[in-house]
Amino acid sequence: MDYNVLFPRFHLAEIEDQPWCPEVFRTNTHKFLARFWKASTSSKGSPALQASQILVRELGGLSKASEYTFVDSCAGAGGPTPVIEPILNERLRSVGLNSVQFKLTDLWPDLKAWREISSHSKNISYFEYPVDATKAIRLSGDNKECRMYNLCFHHFDDPAAERVLLSAIESSDAFFIFEMTHRTFPSLLNIVLINFQVFFTTVYDWWWSPLHLIFVYLIPLIPIMNAFDGLVSCIRGRTADETWDLLTRSSGLSVEEWEQKHGWELRSGREIVLPPFGTMYWCAGIKKPN
Ligand SMILES: C[S@@+](CC[C@H](N)C(=O)[O-])C[C@H]1O[C@@H](n2cnc3c(N)ncnc32)[C@H](O)[C@@H]1O
Repeated sequence: MDYNVLFPRFHLAEIEDQPWCPEVFRTNTHKFLARFWKASTSSKGSPALQASQILVRELGGLSKASEYTFVDSCAGAGGPTPVIEPILNERLRSVGLNSVQFKLTDLWPDLKAWREISSHSKNISYFEYPVDATKAIRLSGDNKECRMYNLCFHHFDDPAAERVLLSAIESSDAFFIFEMTHRTFPSLLNIVLINFQVFFTTVYDWWWSPLHLIFVYLIPLIPIMNAFDGLVSCIRGRTADETWDLLTRSSGLSVEEWEQKHGWELRSGREIVLPPFGTMYWCAGIKKPN
């Protein structure tokens, strides 16, 4: 699929990925992302709601979706899961199907945020210990497992991204990569708009904190760091072809030959989920039934 990318991909470094990154910045970014998933400027609903529709549609409908346990593999502060879970389970129950379970995992588990999320839903649980998405093991027992990589796949350089995909192919039954940052004009414009919002939400969050007298001086730094990471995230965005190349390059097979050999279907698409510019780029792999 042609994504109209403006320049080649470079794996530059985001501040959030650095060990020296202040925790306050990482927390603020994840909190912002959790809000972003719920925001809506579309009659089709929030990005999270629209992602839930992509999940159901691509898995083959509600009945098929109900066979999976969903693992949010780089969950941050929860990302879209607290929105997707009630929407999807409500739809499943409305047609007489059982609720599905969601599991939050991350290399750096945000236990405070996850405790709060799971206290509101018996269908969301979390793993307290670090789970590395590059060598993830199956977490869903006998159920089919669907791994979600929300706004995180661009964090992995090519060798790590390849390991993430291989681990999904080896030990799960489906995976979805959702990204909102890309080397495209709409994505770059979206980052500009979003950073105005980050400024206001940061002021709001810190104003009520007892530490606000300290943080009020740091507040302008947070949107600046966020804008930097947003731009780097765009530069690190992958097209579907670049994503599938990670899977096929060692074998020299075409995507169709790879699908045939491994019994998986690889799909991709893009949809405007946060007008005017916010475009969701998704890639999905689904294991074909034997
Ligand atoms: C930009 S945040 C996205 C958070 C969340 N998915 C969302 O949509 O709001 C990227 C997340 O990837 C996690 N991460 C980075 N490398 C990882 C790895 N190797 N295994 C698991 N998680 C990882 C980080 O800890 C961070 O929480």
